[in-house]
Amino acid sequence: MTRKSFYITTPIYYPSDKLHIGHCYTTVAADAMARFKRLMGYDVWFLTGTDEHGQKIERRAAEAGKTPQVFVDEIVEWIKELWDILDISYSDFIRTTEERHKQSVQAIFKKLYEQGDIYKDKYEGLYCTPCEAFWTERQAEEGCCPDCGSQVEMVSEESYFFKMSKYAQRLYEHILENEDFIQPPSRKNEMINNFLKPGLEELCVSRTSFDWGVEVPFDNGHIVYVWLDALSNYITALGYPQDMEKVEQYWPADVQLIGKEIVRFHTIYWPIFLMALGLPLPRQVFGHGWLLLQEGKMSKSKGNVIDPTVLVDQYGSDAIRYFLLREIPFGSDGVFTTEALIQRINFDLANDLGNLIHRTLNMVNKFAGGVIEAPSLEGEHDGELKELALETSGEMEKLMDKLLFSNALAVLWKLVGRANKYIDETEPWALNREGKRERLNTVLYNYVETIRIISVLLQPFMPKTPYRIWELIGISGETSQQTWDSSKAWGLYKGGTRVKKSEVLFPRIELEKEEEQKPPKKDRKKSRKVVGKKTAETSKASAENQAESSSHIKIDDFARVDLRVAEILQAEKVDGADKLLKVKVSLGQEERQIVAGIAQYYKPEEIVGKKVLFVANLAPVKIRGIESQGMLLAAVDAGGKLVLSSVDKEIAPGSRVS
Ligand code: ME8
Ligand code: MG
Repeated sequence: MTRKSFYITTPIYYPSDKLHIGHCYTTVAADAMARFKRLMGYDVWFLTGTDEHGQKIERRAAEAGKTPQVFVDEIVEWIKELWDILDISYSDFIRTTEERHKQSVQAIFKKLYEQGDIYKDKYEGLYCTPCEAFWTERQAEEGCCPDCGSQVEMVSEESYFFKMSKYAQRLYEHILENEDFIQPPSRKNEMINNFLKPGLEELCVSRTSFDWGVEVPFDNGHIVYVWLDALSNYITALGYPQDMEKVEQYWPADVQLIGKEIVRFHTIYWPIFLMALGLPLPRQVFGHGWLLLQEGKMSKSKGNVIDPTVLVDQYGSDAIRYFLLREIPFGSDGVFTTEALIQRINFDLANDLGNLIHRTLNMVNKFAGGVIEAPSLEGEHDGELKELALETSGEMEKLMDKLLFSNALAVLWKLVGRANKYIDETEPWALNREGKRERLNTVLYNYVETIRIISVLLQPFMPKTPYRIWELIGISGETSQQTWDSSKAWGLYKGGTRVKKSEVLFPRIELEKEEEQKPPKKDRKKSRKVVGKKTAETSKASAENQAESSSHIKIDDFARVDLRVAEILQAEKVDGADKLLKVKVSLGQEERQIVAGIAQYYKPEEIVGKKVLFVANLAPVKIRGIESQGMLLAAVDAGGKLVLSSVDKEIAPGSRVS
């Protein structure tokens, strides 16, 4: 039996600069949906990528003194690293500069031309040369460009046009007949009233004013209009038109996620191109709201953006994902502030979820020697907890199908809250004191089983945390207790399972301290190596010692970092990543593999044999698909240059640093 397919896409982003937290918002949402559908048993295809052509990129590259290709290659590498650290589980990453895409776009253009939907004509209009933009007579009041004030001139040039009007009525009917096609509904009304009702103009689909793009296959001086090039990615990435296997498997897309500013392109131009190609329309285009800063919209050009890699370094990828999905209802705009992020981390993650797990493990260890027995004595409140636990997945499914991420998480957190309340109601400390073993074992079981169910339901949103919870409650290898369906059954957790000693999953963050230590924007390397880690450790410690109020750390806090001397055994470049080296080190008894961002400063052969300080108990992460099991320590100068740490005299690898 073939599984049902599910195809989800994000916009392809402009690599004109590094991406910001707004881009992460869309991508994290798409990823949560993709993971959710995979857990539900769908055959999921999740596409993201980059939109690399056009005048803006051409200019940015020239400013940077690079060719456009070199310029975008560097940013795309950074983007892929960003998606790695945010655990974005895309199936394919399409770049519009790839040969597979360019050929397909040319084939599409040719087909549309041959069937008469695209025709060549003279374009006449008022043109502003400095801005390279056309204006209507009304816009160019008194013959001046409304943007820069220069004199506009009447120019006429040959261009290709697409017959939008031919398909307008069909599109209008499609929108009216398919409630879900444009979501949320407010965006649909806007498209109808502002664009379709007044009548569509023919669309100019070629340019001659710049070179950085896909050439019109039969007319050299012309470049395919960026939006026709860009929108096609959603099918060219599947192989259209050369190889139709994936197209047949996944097209039409189930959900195309975009920000609200590009709804017009995706619900008018795109469907019309698809109609002309004889392809079905996406089932849904969802235009979500904007993440704003207190001072307004974040934009690369305003330079007020927040570097997401800095946030991830400081707070962890799961916490950032949780915040993005929980804080703002998906269709609406919302304001991003560090305060709001820290509050979510402290209240929802540290207090609610973190404490539930922390309290439970402490009690299992203290009252039951770390082992959970099978339940044997039902009591008051058990039924209510179980009922809520068992209905949570179903409630979440309904909300997820409408892309209501925030509501789905709220439903899950209702269960977290109920479980915390159940601990208070059942008073295990009293049961222990009074020697009511059977009942004590049963409530302890119920806490852990509820935590298991919560961990299963967390998977789409926070991919790392469930694994950490499974490790703590001793079910890492028990895959049958980790499937989505396993959250619909009570009692799968096995009696006799041993839990681990508790550890703080989400350290509380102290707001004032955070302000002091906030790294300068965009100063990623520095924050990663120096500020980022220290902050995490500092706050982790203070979670356990709330009394501590200075920004100093105690010797115990420092001791949590397992620092060793590591000898570098091998180093090699990571394919396609300019900044990364894959390094194998020896810690004496043990070898580790890590991915280090030092390739711009060291050649692989230069570092082999060096002895370097090494963080040995950092949780493993995947970087570019390669597991990194620790971190080399390096110093950073003001310009971001890295210098590896070293030891003063000969010493055996593995030696402890304290
Ligand atoms: O528009 N809040 O690329 P782009 C929420 N290449 N989402 C935001 C956001 C914010 N402040 N800022 C950006 C393009 N986004 C074209 C798309 S598709 C065929 C071509 C997200 O780099 C949101 O998804 O300007 C928005 O639509 C997209 O990034 C724009 O990215
Ligand atoms: Mg934009």
